[in-house]
Amino acid sequence: MMPQSSLDIQPVSKSLGAEIINVDISQPLSASLIDEIHKSWLENLVLLFRNQTLSDADLVAFSRNFGDLDSVPGWEPFSPDTHPEVLVVSNVQENGTPIGVLGDGEASWHTDMAYIAKPPPASLLYSLEVPDTGGDTCFMNMYDALDALPDDLRRAIEGKTLNHDSSHDSGGNLRPNHQMFTSLAEAPGARHPIIRKHPDTGRPALFLGRRLHAWIVGMDIAQSDALLDRLWEHCLQEDFTYRHEWQPGDLLMWDNRVTMHRRDPFDGGARRVMHRTQLKGIAGVEAAA
Ligand SMILES: [Fe+2]
Repeated sequence: MMPQSSLDIQPVSKSLGAEIINVDISQPLSASLIDEIHKSWLENLVLLFRNQTLSDADLVAFSRNFGDLDSVPGWEPFSPDTHPEVLVVSNVQENGTPIGVLGDGEASWHTDMAYIAKPPPASLLYSLEVPDTGGDTCFMNMYDALDALPDDLRRAIEGKTLNHDSSHDSGGNLRPNHQMFTSLAEAPGARHPIIRKHPDTGRPALFLGRRLHAWIVGMDIAQSDALLDRLWEHCLQEDFTYRHEWQPGDLLMWDNRVTMHRRDPFDGGARRVMHRTQLKGIAGVEAAA
């Protein structure tokens, strides 16, 4: 008879995140082990595997256990030719050319690609080189943020939809080939319910995307800004967060539907090299009733 769980799972914070201690994810994993990892991921929202040694092929193979992967067209020349599913996140330049995206600055709180119709359900980020200090990644539990929301604030957003601006990146920079708009009501991007039901767990969670240039559809812009400011102030409590201090060989896998994350800046003279995959978005994440 199978043991209840063969995984050694250790929580890394009160709110979210767990380390799985005893799995070498460079190796093929049994279907039952993948099921256990998937279940733990849904429960803990962020999974950490330390001391891994992964080629891009290993990272892609492990990621595929959980769904189809996005490729990253449009990011070239950053993505290695052989693995278009792997995006390099790095500040390093070789011969004056960045080898990856995002540089060394701060990335403010966000959900990856919330500004498209079908955002990726998961992102996986593997660290090859990290600076001695800085560059931590923080995660936020959006189930908990919703559960703790004051009643009046919850009532104010129930049934509402948020426009997620697609024209700026998480560093606040205008993306190439985008124009600045004159009113938030003209911001390009996808619209999602502010309270959404997780398709697998059925639990409702806040879905805020990012603060910059967000707009509650149909609302007076000043009122929308005031309501969003209150929501964000509520969310930015340490109770809902986990801070990850990277070591080389860490693989983090997060549920992008019910978490947000941010990154600290770091010394531009230091090297930080990470490889990332994302699961392809699927339709059908609904508003919570
Ligand atoms: Fe991100």
